[in-house]
This record gives sequence, C-alpha cells and structure tokens, in this order.
Amino acid sequence: MIGKLNHVAIVVPDLEKGADLYRDVLGAQVSEPMPLPEHGVTTVFVKLENTKIELLHPLGEASPVSRYLERHPQGGVHHICYEVADITVARDQLCQTGARVLGEGEPSIGAHGKPVLFLHPADFCGTLIELEQA
Ligand code: CO
Repeated sequence: MIGKLNHVAIVVPDLEKGADLYRDVLGAQVSEPMPLPEHGVTTVFVKLENTKIELLHPLGEASPVSRYLERHPQGGVHHICYEVADITVARDQLCQTGARVLGEGEPSIGAHGKPVLFLHPADFCGTLIELEQA
C-alpha cells in the first residue's frame, strides 16, 4: 500500500540552527524558512537525493508541534510521511484492520498542497505516520 518515503519531519527548537546544521555540518541543500500559517509551522526543507527532511518550528498560538517541543526541548523526529496512490482507499483499508486515523478521519490538504491523513502512533510502533496522496 505505501510507496515512497516522502519526508521525515523533525521538530527543532531553533530553525536557523537546524538549517545551519544540515547545510554546514551535514552538507545538504536547505531552503529558506517557509512560514505555513495554515499548518502552524515554519518549515525548512532539506533536499536529499531520495527524499526530504522537513525541519519544523511552531508558528502561532495553536501550533500542532508546540506540545512536542515542550516535551522534547531538544527537538526530535515528529513524523514520517509515506506516499499512497489513493488516500481514501488507503484509509478505508487501514480502518478495516482497526488502525485509527487522527482527527475527523477525512483527508486535509497538507503542506505540499496534496491530501494527507495522520495515523495514530499507538497503532504503528509508536510512530506518527502521515500518508500523502502522491
Ligand atoms: Co509532514
């Protein structure tokens, strides 16, 4: 069902430091910070040959990553995103196995303008999984 690894999202306490680390220490190609107010984050995209890393920092009051940063002040891996061909088919198949979808269970438009869903970490080895329709 799942296809390519689309991205790994890492929450960072300091976006500039995170970007510097990936650019100067790890030698990767990093974007300028991109504010995504509708998602409550500012993101730096790190382009790798086979996938992306997204450095996330809270933006605004109701950011979905604020609590994560409170619990993990040094930052950490927040979620991984797999591509699926059809998000509704994937959801229905997963729900039949008892897996839980976060929120209302309906796809929303993600940071890349494509439909996404998040799966409950307790059902997937303690990992928050994002599915994105490719
Ligand atoms: Co994501």
